[in-house]
Amino acid sequence: SRRTLSTKVPIVDIHTHVYLPRYAEELRARSSAPRIYRRTGADGQPEERLLILDGEPGVGRPVGPQYWERDQKLLFMKRHDIDISFVSSANPWLDFLPPERAHTLAQELNNDLEEYCSTSPQANGFPGLRSIYGFGLLPLVSGISVSSVLDVIKQINTLPHISGIIIGTRGVGNGLDDEILEPVWEAIQQANLVVFIHPHYGVDSKSFGNKTNGHVLPLALGFPFETTIAITRLILAGVLDRYPNLRLLLAHSGGALPQLSSRLASCIAHDPIVAKRLKHDARYYLSKLYFDAVAYGAEELGFVSDVIRRAEAYNSTGGEYNADVGSTRMLFGTDHPFFPPLEASQKWQSVEDNLEAIWSVRTWGDSARANVLGLNALRLFDLEC
Ligand code: URA
Ligand code: ZN
Repeated sequence: SRRTLSTKVPIVDIHTHVYLPRYAEELRARSSAPRIYRRTGADGQPEERLLILDGEPGVGRPVGPQYWERDQKLLFMKRHDIDISFVSSANPWLDFLPPERAHTLAQELNNDLEEYCSTSPQANGFPGLRSIYGFGLLPLVSGISVSSVLDVIKQINTLPHISGIIIGTRGVGNGLDDEILEPVWEAIQQANLVVFIHPHYGVDSKSFGNKTNGHVLPLALGFPFETTIAITRLILAGVLDRYPNLRLLLAHSGGALPQLSSRLASCIAHDPIVAKRLKHDARYYLSKLYFDAVAYGAEELGFVSDVIRRAEAYNSTGGEYNADVGSTRMLFGTDHPFFPPLEASQKWQSVEDNLEAIWSVRTWGDSARANVLGLNALRLFDLEC
């Protein structure tokens, strides 16, 4: 029947965020964005607001215990029948900090997150699994030394519940195609960490027009375009040719990359200098990537899945044909605590939309849905149940 799989599979959320208490404190101490500040709300009560970007319109977003308290995360999981969460710090991570502070805070926050995960309850009905695992942080900021970044990768290797890292799109100031990052990719590949690539900056809010539309344009379009550009640059710099075992997970189903990958291939083919840099057709690289299923629509998920299936055809290692192949690289996520319900109802519409989408992809049966809802995450993070 609807929403019941024929085999018991844990529901795993791989896109879910936290501002750890130590990070929230850091934001409270600031007087410019990103910051958390107090004001008197419409009801006369004091409230905290989060201002995340410079020049953000208005007074920022309401922020509260959903962002930092683990009990709130567990409550949210229970409400939506999520068995396991891979929690990551929310944007803008450490991007705005000077190198020394970023280095110290990265290590402290990684330890905090390890504690947050390791003391979480066992996953309900899945003995041997915890309910929460984490993505750690690297001090990827301008002016940092590569050895400091490598230091923190070493630290993460010692933290058993941190199985990946979340990164933005700026690298150490010059993007993800910066050659200074070579030893970082090498160490990440060696450590077998999953890299969750997540946007923060969007595109200039004044691009191609002047009207304000709240957060709609930066969130709906700017975020995914930013991810698209960052991952495309990484591919064009040959990072996936040199580190073929890197495991990169793209936020918001890879933004526009699936839609634009054939155009990208064509543009590369017409640019002999760039073409010479790459070992493969651009579409091949999509068969090396992982995509969250945070796209809010069944047709979009089905499309991404088709593009991944095609990418596998460019993957010379081939393998057996599998009708579900497109679903094997897509993973359920919620983006909690962002996009909360407008009324304090029990279920979050954003979560319901993403679940409904997974259940409604026309080319997916139960095995594809089981992959996306949980099995892919277990495989990606080497968990067994
Ligand atoms: N808004 C953000 O700032 N970050 C997210 O991850 C989602 C929405
Ligand atoms: Zn997110």
